[in-house]
Formats: sequence, C-alpha cells, structure tokens
Amino acid sequence: MKKLMRYSPLLGILALAACAGDEDAPAVEDAPEPGTEPVAEVLAARVDLPPGVTAEMVARGQQVFEGTGICYTCHMQDGVGGPLGPNLTDDHWINTDGSYESIVNVVMNGVTQPVEHPGIMLPRGGTNISDDDVRAVAAYVWALSRGS
Ligand code: HEC
Repeated sequence: MKKLMRYSPLLGILALAACAGDEDAPAVEDAPEPGTEPVAEVLAARVDLPPGVTAEMVARGQQVFEGTGICYTCHMQDGVGGPLGPNLTDDHWINTDGSYESIVNVVMNGVTQPVEHPGIMLPRGGTNISDDDVRAVAAYVWALSRGS
C-alpha cells in the first residue's frame, strides 16, 4: 500500500500530461500543411478559374499532386514532365482537349493507351484518392497549364 502511495503523484503527472496532449491536438490541425507553398495560390490568382473551380481546390490539388495522388512520381514536381509522364504545364495536350472537365476525366480514368510514353497511367494515378481530390488535382493541373 505504501509503495502505491509513493507512486501516485507520478501517476497524477502522467494523467496531466495526457490531458495536455489532448489540448494540443487541435493546434496541430491549425498548423500549415506541407505542400501549401504559394505556387497554387499564385497560379489561381493569375487566371480566371473555370466554373465550379475555386482557389481552395487548386491549393488542395497541389497537396494531392505532391502527396496522396503521387502524380509527381511520373509528371515530376510542378508537373514539368519526365520520361514516365508528360509535361502538364504547357498547352500541348495529348490525351485531353485541355478543358477542366476533360482533365477530370483523364485523371478519373487514367490513360490505357499512352501516345508518347512507354507506360500507362492508372485511374486516379493508381491511388484511391476521393472524387473531390480528383477534381481538386485536376483544378491544380488546369491552373498549372494556364498560369506558368
Ligand atoms: C505511373 C505514372 C503516372 C502517374 C503516377 C500519373 N500519371 Fe498522369 N499520365 C501518365 C502517362 C503515361 C500519361 C499519358 C501520356 C501519353 O499518352 O503519352 C498521363 C497523362 C496525364 C494527363 C493528360 C495529359 C495530356 O497531355 O493530355 C493528365 C492531365 C495527367 N496525366 C494527370 C495526372 C494526375 C493529376 C496524376 C495524379 C493523380 C497522374 N497523372 C498520375 C503517367 C502517370
């Protein structure tokens, strides 16, 4: 019993620490997320976005492009293109007509018969990103091709 008493203050401190940890949790959500460098905002401000597309979607799309959507692995950082995926920053379109909806479409469905590249693009880049994230990343690609 004596032994338990001796340790109880320590338990108290641990419990306090746990509570403090909980209070900190919302602050972490407020912190800027990676991939929110000004690029997307600058792009969105520079062009007139298509109907239904917001600057927030462009910013979110950049995060998807560089994160869960893994688009950068083939299209490279900032979509400049590489051996595995085409440049998305110019007005030379291979699989789409460059309109926002056609970009959404190609990201949803992938490219089973690539024209200028050796490998295919799977639907959603081979990931399970949500429909909203597909529309956001398409907004980012649309802005990339207009703003740079
Ligand atoms: C495994 C490599 C790979 C990944 C990952 C990938 N792509 Fe692609 N992407 C390609 C290839 C290959 C093409 C077709 C190029 C061709 O026809 O020569 C393509 C085509 C496109 C096009 C049409 C370009 C045009 O000129 O018409 C868009 C837009 C695009 N990808 C966006 C994305 C987005 C957004 C993501 C992430 C969700 C993504 N891609 C992930 C390889 C990839």
